[in-house]
Amino acid sequence: MCASKDHSIWRWFDFFPVVDRSSIVSLGEGSTPLIHADRLGEKLGIKNLYLKNDTVLPTGSLKDRSNSVGISVARELGFTTAAVMSTGNAAASVAAYSAAAGIKSVVMVPAGTALSKIIQARAYGATVVVIDGNFDYEVAKLYKAAVEEFGWYDCLSSNPYRDEGKKSYAYEMVDQLDGRIPDWVIHPTAGGTGIYAMWKGYQEFLSLGWIERAPKLVAAQSEAAAPIVAAFEKRLADIEPIVARETVAESIQVGNPVSLGWRALAAIRESGGTAAAVSDEEILEAEGLIGRLVGIFAEPAAAVSVAVAKKLRDAGVIRPEDLVVCNLTGHGLKQPEAIHLSHKEFMPIAPTLDALRECMKARPEWN
Ligand SMILES: Cc1ncc(COP(=O)(O)O)c(C=O)c1O
Repeated sequence: MCASKDHSIWRWFDFFPVVDRSSIVSLGEGSTPLIHADRLGEKLGIKNLYLKNDTVLPTGSLKDRSNSVGISVARELGFTTAAVMSTGNAAASVAAYSAAAGIKSVVMVPAGTALSKIIQARAYGATVVVIDGNFDYEVAKLYKAAVEEFGWYDCLSSNPYRDEGKKSYAYEMVDQLDGRIPDWVIHPTAGGTGIYAMWKGYQEFLSLGWIERAPKLVAAQSEAAAPIVAAFEKRLADIEPIVARETVAESIQVGNPVSLGWRALAAIRESGGTAAAVSDEEILEAEGLIGRLVGIFAEPAAAVSVAVAKKLRDAGVIRPEDLVVCNLTGHGLKQPEAIHLSHKEFMPIAPTLDALRECMKARPEWN
């Protein structure tokens, strides 16, 4: 289908809205592993469970797919500063791609954002502004006013160039599964760009006659921030904004996905898919299982896809033989403090075998 040596998303250059190849801003994003998670699949009762491991993208989250395209367009259009408001992952990604493009970046994050994400954005040279206010309303209002005032290139998910990059999920899955189409693709969902863009990507391949059907798409959310699930269940055409509550899945703690929420809803419905929400407890359980049974450290927001796979399997919506892909959208090191470990575990011991034997007895994971 595509014999290019380029393993980044840019091997699909013709599908992206960039005019000149010299504008491309790339850090090698794309072609992330699609892993057959057999032990996790056995545990969940899903034989053909695959994990799309986007934790290995350049800045550790799915945002690199979209910002590589978005910032390439910014360069093509001659912008000198890119901006975004973010729960953290987009901030780091916009900062990194701006650095790669040689332009400035300003990122706004709500107070309480994981320090590791803030430090990451700063390390790429961004001006990081932490705002004491509600993300969906106060931060959003200030961000909008600032973009207008300063004339920054707006990297929010409403930027149409940005979500184009996430179409690459669909292209890569078709390629990696040798043309087999998943029955379900489950995506941790906040603004809805991933769901909408994947659907668009599959539609493009369908219209080219490269595939014969598309998967059912599932929006996976935290119960504390599930406006898309609520709208889907109420059969609404658009989202009713909510005030999101705190959740361990902080990267997808979005209550007002205004720009693409309705398009994600349409994509879910057209695909014959569904939307489901899970509790913090279920999310942390899934994060642990992905770590121990697969060997991938995913952040809680990413683990939401696996938690929802379990929920849908338990409810009989997903059948045992279905081919299911869960997108793992962010690295666990983004928010390591989500995993609660006793400090006692890390108390230094004497450098003797006796002390080691005692120590091993006290380790629940060893016994
Ligand atoms: C880790 C992670 N997963 C998933 C998402 C979902 O984004 P979207 O619904 O816009 O595809 C985000 C971003 O908000 C994220 O940071």
